[in-house]
Amino acid sequence: MKMFDTKILSCDTLSPAVEALQSGEVVGLPTETVYGLAGNALSNEAVSKIFAAKGRPSDNPLIVHIATLEEIKPLVSNFPKDAALLADAFWPGPLTIILPKSEKIPAKTSGGLDTVAIRMPRHPIMQEMIQACGFPLAAPSANRSGAPSPTTALHVFDDLKGRVPYIVDGGPCSIGVESTVLYLVGEEPLLLRPGAISPEEISAVLNKSVVIHGNLLHIMAEDVSAPSPGMKYQHYAPTMPLTLFFGSSEDYSGRLMETNWGALCFKEDIPYLETIPALSYGHEDNLAEQSAQLFAMLRMVDTLPVEQVLVHASSSPDALSILNRLLRSAAFRIEGTIPEFLERK
Ligand code: TXA
Ligand code: MG
Repeated sequence: MKMFDTKILSCDTLSPAVEALQSGEVVGLPTETVYGLAGNALSNEAVSKIFAAKGRPSDNPLIVHIATLEEIKPLVSNFPKDAALLADAFWPGPLTIILPKSEKIPAKTSGGLDTVAIRMPRHPIMQEMIQACGFPLAAPSANRSGAPSPTTALHVFDDLKGRVPYIVDGGPCSIGVESTVLYLVGEEPLLLRPGAISPEEISAVLNKSVVIHGNLLHIMAEDVSAPSPGMKYQHYAPTMPLTLFFGSSEDYSGRLMETNWGALCFKEDIPYLETIPALSYGHEDNLAEQSAQLFAMLRMVDTLPVEQVLVHASSSPDALSILNRLLRSAAFRIEGTIPEFLERK
């Protein structure tokens, strides 16, 4: 792999990043969800560099990012009415739609599948970069494969320094978890990854129910083939072993007192924790705040002077996108009063 003296660019000096992308290199770019590792989605060579820089398995397809709706037609072989309704309601924004791909999408980009994931991000820098390049940008999250997704330029630098020429600094990502991924190829819309746009919001726009894939909150059974290749890989894992805890601040602190573990908790828990080493990722009833801080805290958790960490997790069904990431980062270890929607049916 070619090595670089990686530079972080400010948002008013985009041209070196545009030139790098136009000459087939890959760069780190901000989006409203997480930072992406971008390259020309239509170039086999650029897309191969994305897989190499991340250390990503080659069967795990990339999301193709566009800036305007006209760009989608050449990329897909079918643009159904449901896709048009969702694009109208949620684009630009944190929704990825999977559709049958056209010949223009290289097999490398789609991981050998006959479908392609498309998203129109709303971050102004990402929008400007796609327009300036003149081609759609393939961009997975800009972390090393398996690590928590990056929500600042510095996270990208920590993971990819030397492997990319540029990272554009757009400040911290406002949403903090990756886009909602919706499969629109089958009979019914199927949610493959929860994100800021909820299945209820999608359902309201389509006027039909959205099927929630059974693996979103559960370990994938070994004999089930994954509709989204990303589902089968380990995700978001800090080095620190994590266990999730469901219950009140009193029960959570009580459980911690029995251990010599650290805490990844809500702000409200702090007064209960006395000398226990702790990091908080937001207020208990503020899911947007938890989502924005989650990945930064999953990166920081390794700095706690303990051997294990108990994570206080929300018991609200509205926390679907946060729980989906937390469960994976904790390898599905859970304790406390498990909410009913987490029980396997
Ligand atoms: O918010 C986001 O979506 C961020 C930013 C950078 O846009 N990107 C992102 O990409 O999260 P990535 O590669 O980390 O996650 C894409 C997920 C993977 O789980 C992948 O398996 C799935 O989407 N995916 C992509 N194309 C697919 C396809 N054709 N069929 C099924 N799943 C697909
Ligand atoms: Mg990712």
